[in-house]
Amino acid sequence: MFEELPVLPPDSILGLAAECRADPNPEKVDLTIGIYMDESGNCPVFKAVSNAQRQLIEQETTKAYLPPQGYQPFLDGMMSLVVGSEQLSARSGQVSAVQTPGGCGAIRIGAEVLQSAAPGARVWVSDPTWPVHLPLLNSVGLHIETYAYYDPATKGVNFDAMVEGLKAAVAGDIVLLHGCCHNPSGADLTPQQWQVIADMAAKQGFTPMIDIAYQGLGDGLEADAVGVRTLIASVPEVVIAASCSKNLGLYRERTGVALFVSGDARSAEATASQAKSAARRVYSMPPAHGGIIAGMVLNDAALRSEWEAELSSMCQRIQGLRTTFREQLEAATGRDFAFIAKEKGMFSFLGLTREQAQQVRKEHSLYMLDSSRINVASLNAGNIERVVAAVAAVS
Ligand code: LMR
Repeated sequence: MFEELPVLPPDSILGLAAECRADPNPEKVDLTIGIYMDESGNCPVFKAVSNAQRQLIEQETTKAYLPPQGYQPFLDGMMSLVVGSEQLSARSGQVSAVQTPGGCGAIRIGAEVLQSAAPGARVWVSDPTWPVHLPLLNSVGLHIETYAYYDPATKGVNFDAMVEGLKAAVAGDIVLLHGCCHNPSGADLTPQQWQVIADMAAKQGFTPMIDIAYQGLGDGLEADAVGVRTLIASVPEVVIAASCSKNLGLYRERTGVALFVSGDARSAEATASQAKSAARRVYSMPPAHGGIIAGMVLNDAALRSEWEAELSSMCQRIQGLRTTFREQLEAATGRDFAFIAKEKGMFSFLGLTREQAQQVRKEHSLYMLDSSRINVASLNAGNIERVVAAVAAVS
């Protein structure tokens, strides 16, 4: 059966991270995968998470399955974190949620429910988008279209082209938007631009789907949710995929949530039942550990304020790294890197060609994606000069 089975090429992100791990050069720098690294090059466990975990271990009395929708205190905490209390009360009874294995699981469950509601529907994704969006959406039968988004010439969002492209999205279509910290570009919409997209959704009738995997790593927890909330205030139906990988550092615990905002209580019951059924046919029920910990952090006042302070200092450190990196790149190359300081979250394109990205890997053991996407949060005082020198040497 497997004799003719093709061997697939490595994943465009995980494959390069593996290549970097295998590189014997002690000076290598890994700017590939979107994981927050601290000054010592370690992906830290939040103190609030460690404290919650300790309490959980002391108190836990069972490892019985969670129900397919997951751990209710976690779902409640995530609904208010992402949707916000104002929209939750305005849309009372119209929001359903299922806990999922990470943000990826949330996109997949969202896609499954959308495919049940509108088989073969078109999903418009930004050009470019996170590469994994494509298989997550089209493997359930949804049809991918793209809309213009990032302009490499101006190093920013080409909003006019985005609006022009989205004029083709009609009722029955889905438009996938990045809630904040656009992956891979770091170029985000302004609150005014979110309102324009929300007005288009209301007028044209397309359904927004929002991937918000980086809430809290751009401008802060509330500011990063502006897009989500603007859309919920403007249109009856919104699908949201949220993740606790980055903002709670729960990467390997696979903790996320799919949220469905519906036009009425019956539709909310329908989305909840469809999402549970999709979970059952794909993986049955979510892993418990991360969801319970996140639920404790979100709902306990002391853990919550400890977490928010840690997240906010992480966010400020990324902003500081962006400023320093910009200054050093400009000094080394004489070119304008102002966009690096303006962009949000972990990612930015450096504007290198594919050949230059490969050259910098081969000659300097500096690992970035072929698109020249880097994870800014992997820079630190110990590697930034080396990164700047390597980029200057190849470009
Ligand atoms: C990334 O884009 O690097 C992250 O979202 C991690 C992943 O799974 O690709």
